[in-house]
Amino acid sequence: MDNRIDTLEATIAALKRLEKKGVRSVYLDGIELPTVVSPPSAPLPTAVSAPASRAASAARPAPAAAVPAPNPETVASLAALAKTVSACTRCALHQTRTQTVFGVGNPHAKLMFIGEAPGADEDAKGEPFVGRAGQLLNKIIVAMGMTREEVYIGNILKCRPPQNRDPLPAEVNCCEEYLRAQIALIKPKYICALGRIAAHWLLKTDAPLGAMRAGSYTYEGIPVIVTYHPAALLRNPAFKAPCWDDMKKLMALLKDA
Ligand code: URA
Repeated sequence: MDNRIDTLEATIAALKRLEKKGVRSVYLDGIELPTVVSPPSAPLPTAVSAPASRAASAARPAPAAAVPAPNPETVASLAALAKTVSACTRCALHQTRTQTVFGVGNPHAKLMFIGEAPGADEDAKGEPFVGRAGQLLNKIIVAMGMTREEVYIGNILKCRPPQNRDPLPAEVNCCEEYLRAQIALIKPKYICALGRIAAHWLLKTDAPLGAMRAGSYTYEGIPVIVTYHPAALLRNPAFKAPCWDDMKKLMALLKDA
């Protein structure tokens, strides 16, 4: 994945330079490249129209799956749930949070990433994975051929634990109902548990991460793929290659979803 992400960063930088010069479209072998620099806010591109040459298709990840139009009922129910969560005082974390961090992304996402809990950046912004780990997660998502807007991103806890300590069992118990309801509304085809703590609480196991990565799990009938937390990849880049293996497995599964 190292090479993939480095190439991606270089491509984004080159596209940004071209965009500054007023270039709006870039073609490779007659194919318009996905809009990486200024992603569209509404419907994502589903496929390129021209047949891809072997070189071009090797350079690009598989095209993103079609994104269905938002169902107003799901959107309204998620908004109502987010409102309930924003007023939550079930555990002591409400006393120290700046705001709750509900989740972000496509309400009909086929893939839902679940992390541990908001950190300082997320607590300040009210959005999950917006700090350094979040930026790496975004790169992983793009390397998988998707965008942050196309997947859904949430956490086990909706409030930041002080000093970013591990969630306490009582805190997870208080928050679990919210996550369960969130997943039931989004109905993802796959869940990706980011890191040991997310996987432990989601799957109710204390197996080591290596065993969970190799294992086969479901949450409420939804297959769960376990991988390293992006923060772990930042601390130890040797985890990037096995994490990318996990993402390739997920990409293959998503192709048929
Ligand atoms: N780490 C997490 O587990 N979740 C976030 O939202 C940010 C960092």
